[in-house]
Amino acid sequence: MRLAGRTALVTGGGRGLGRAIAVECAREGAWVAVGYRRRAEEARAALAAVRDAGGDGELCAFDVREAAEVERAVAALLASRGRIDAVVNCAGVARDNLFARMTLEEWDDVMRTNLHGCVHVTRAVVRSMMATGGGAVVNVASVAGMRASPGQANYAASKGAVLALTATLAAELGPSRVRVNALVPGLIAAGMVARVDPREIERRRERIPLGRLGEASEVGRAAVFLLSDDASYVTGQSLVVDGGLSL
Ligand SMILES: NC(=O)c1ccc[n+]([C@@H]2O[C@H](COP(=O)([O-])OP(=O)(O)OC[C@H]3O[C@@H](n4cnc5c(N)ncnc54)[C@H](OP(=O)(O)O)[C@@H]3O)[C@@H](O)[C@H]2O)c1
Repeated sequence: MRLAGRTALVTGGGRGLGRAIAVECAREGAWVAVGYRRRAEEARAALAAVRDAGGDGELCAFDVREAAEVERAVAALLASRGRIDAVVNCAGVARDNLFARMTLEEWDDVMRTNLHGCVHVTRAVVRSMMATGGGAVVNVASVAGMRASPGQANYAASKGAVLALTATLAAELGPSRVRVNALVPGLIAAGMVARVDPREIERRRERIPLGRLGEASEVGRAAVFLLSDDASYVTGQSLVVDGGLSL
């Protein structure tokens, strides 16, 4: 029970990787606020899975692109829980297109969700973490933020920026005992990847040294490590969970 007694907020917790992260946090004793935007039914199922894992929590609906909405939701959570010990910025979207064809709307939406969303949530939470003696933030990036990913210029730029943000926030917030790390999934058999054409997935699978896609729970367990005291001397790092894809 490595997160016993802690309050965690997982954005994008309604489905995919975020749901698996929420469940693994609950399994380790955390109380989990399951963040989502509009798929309330999925989010309710995620909260049920959190409870099945032996934990508890509540639903927390807000759009990470909207700073004021985020501030209100985090303030309400802080009012009811008193503190937030752990945040996982997992909400994310992909709007793939070749750069020459990409609309500015596709560019902006991905940047506003993946990068600005991460900024809005972290900004809303971090002062309370500093005031309550520390905390841990995990930003979910992607292998696409570390190497070329044709057709994903918006997504790759947003995730690369999240990696840079993570390192600098870790340096700034270390003295306040707030650790900030990035989790870098490769191809995981859940969420947005599960919705890609299986033939394309098969082509990409051949390049993975471990020979298979990752499981969402494998990402969830890596998130628990970064949030827990097992990683008490780890900050500003990128933990790559990709079966060797990026090697
Ligand atoms: N799946 C993979 O293999 C993989 C690999 C590398 C990185 N990632 C990253 O992992 C994260 C989760 O991806 P996933 O595959 O699990 O995707 P997913 O199944 O599409 O889930 C995305 C989640 O983000 C939430 N979300 C999207 N836009 C939002 C917004 N504006 N405000 C609040 N919440 C928002 C969604 O909420 P609603 O459903 O309520 O809209 C949903 O819960 C993303 O950051 C993604 O880039 C995934």
